[in-house]
Amino acid sequence: MERQIQIAIDGPAAAGKSTTAKQVAERLSYIYIDTGAMYRAIAYKALKCGINLEDGEALGRLLSETDITLKQGKDRQIVLLDGVNVTDAIRKNDVTNNVSAVARHSEVRRDMTLRQQQLASKGGIVMDGRDIGTSVLPNAELKIFLLAGAEERANRRHAENLKKGFSSDLENLKKEIEARDRMDMERLESPLKKADDAIEIDTTFMTIEQVVEAIMTNVQERIR
Ligand code: DC
Repeated sequence: MERQIQIAIDGPAAAGKSTTAKQVAERLSYIYIDTGAMYRAIAYKALKCGINLEDGEALGRLLSETDITLKQGKDRQIVLLDGVNVTDAIRKNDVTNNVSAVARHSEVRRDMTLRQQQLASKGGIVMDGRDIGTSVLPNAELKIFLLAGAEERANRRHAENLKKGFSSDLENLKKEIEARDRMDMERLESPLKKADDAIEIDTTFMTIEQVVEAIMTNVQERIR
């Protein structure tokens, strides 16, 4: 039987991590974990409860009494927050624009990291995020760092929004993506950073299929 490995996929906002990670997991019959969705879920709950997003201790306390479950739905991952389906709610603008502020606190990151390590402990996992290769799974057999120019990432998100029938402002999107990158890269605790042993793939001029193929080639070398 093939070895069940851990695959870490990191990179900035809207670089295509989740689409690619999902497809790689499907090809391998691995479990896919979207760690951004976990941070989004706690940001959503904090906004709903009116918690001060500057207060790391309060956010840590809130998280300690919160259940976040990721379930594989028919064609997408379902996010349950204390048993309630918040899959769509956590993609709304107010969450997107506040999640980095919540994710920068050490109290939040430590708790999330433990949860994510537990989910990955049996291997056979593709996990995407910002700090998977550097902090959550430093021993992952394969680490990928996906990149794309901010312009291209904004274009992709814009096209996605229009396809879903959401209103979308390209210039605004670009500014929001750049602001999120800055916060994720500049935070003190486990910032967005390429792990030394990660393979960097610039997806600016690549299709999703090409990115998936490039990752699969690396996977094959490791599970043989
Ligand atoms: O991947 P995403 O855009 O859904 O992630 C939402 C935010 O969560 C992102 O701006 C930063 C934070 N995040 C993080 O700090 N660490 C992770 N492993 C995943 C996401």
